[in-house]
This record gives sequence, structure tokens and C-alpha cells, in this order.
Amino acid sequence: MYETWEELEKSIVGCNKCKLCNGRKNIVFGTGNKNADLMFIGEGPGADEDIQGEPFVGKAGKLMDMAFCGIGIEREEVYIANIVKCRPPQNRNPEEDEAKACMDYLRNQVMLVKPKIIVLLGSVALKNILGEEYGITASRGNWIERKGILYMPTWHPAALLRDDNKKIEFWKDLKEVMKKMEEITK
Ligand code: URA
Repeated sequence: MYETWEELEKSIVGCNKCKLCNGRKNIVFGTGNKNADLMFIGEGPGADEDIQGEPFVGKAGKLMDMAFCGIGIEREEVYIANIVKCRPPQNRNPEEDEAKACMDYLRNQVMLVKPKIIVLLGSVALKNILGEEYGITASRGNWIERKGILYMPTWHPAALLRDDNKKIEFWKDLKEVMKKMEEITK
């Protein structure tokens, strides 16, 4: 584990720990407030993120931004990262070896950010962070505490594009997150 962002960011340059390095244009490391109380973890970069080198800048990200805007979350105030930092081909789910190879980077990011709350966006984030036994349908909207961090699993923003009910639930989950943020940071 690296003690500074500089060391961590330097360590990922040219990463070839897994096969995703072969197809990437950019490593999508993470963005936002490096001292945020609130962190979001997604799955992995899509085509737009691969081109721009930033998480959640495509269609799903735009939808997330709209929810952020409505709820009063500023993108610059939170930290956003993914399970894998390089785009899986055809936007397939990251494979187990890829997620494992990338996990130390994310652990190190969490260690440095020290968030109080982490929102897990979708099943891939949920299972890789909290365990395979968790299912997104049953877990979403429910707080799970681990080692002093509160986790809120919710739908992946891409799932909202296909289902209006999920939009409502996503909104509800983010509202709950903001309520908790107010409680624990006042
Ligand atoms: N989906 C994700 O999980 N992460 C991104 O950065 C973009 C889309």
C-alpha cells in the first residue's frame, strides 16, 4: 500500500497486471475529492470513459449526474472510482482475475480517501467489495457496515436507462445516503 496519491498514481502507469491492458486507450483511475466523506464505486470504464480517461462520463454517467444534481450531490465533492481501471471489451463484466488484479489499487484509493460512506453501483461492485453472497436486488437500499465504513448498494446507473422503477429506487437510495451524510458529518 502506498501512503501518498503521488506514489499510488505513479504505480499504475503502464499497468499490465491483467489482459485488459491490451485493449485500453486510457487507464481510468478515479476522480473527485481525494478527502471525500462519500465515495462511489462502479464496475469499469465504458467506451467514453476509455477515451476520456474519467469515470462515468458516458450515457450512464450523465444520468447519474442528473440524479446528483436533483439531490444536491456535487461531483467535485465526492470521489468516484471503478472495480477495474481499464475497459473490458464490448463492455462485458470484468472477469474474476481482472477484478482481483485491480483490487489493490481500489483498496489503496479507499485507504487514502478514508470515506465514511461508499455507494456500490451495481452487482459487480457489490460482489467484489462485500462478497459473492450478496445480490443487488436484495441488498440495494440497505446499509451494510464493514470496518467502520457504511456501504449502500444500489443499482448501476446503466440499469436505470432500461427501467424507470430502478430510477425511482436509485433516487431513493441516494436520498438515504444524503440523509445519513448529514447525520454523521454534522
Ligand atoms: N460504468 C461503470 O461502471 N463505470 C464507469 O466509469 C462508466 C460506466
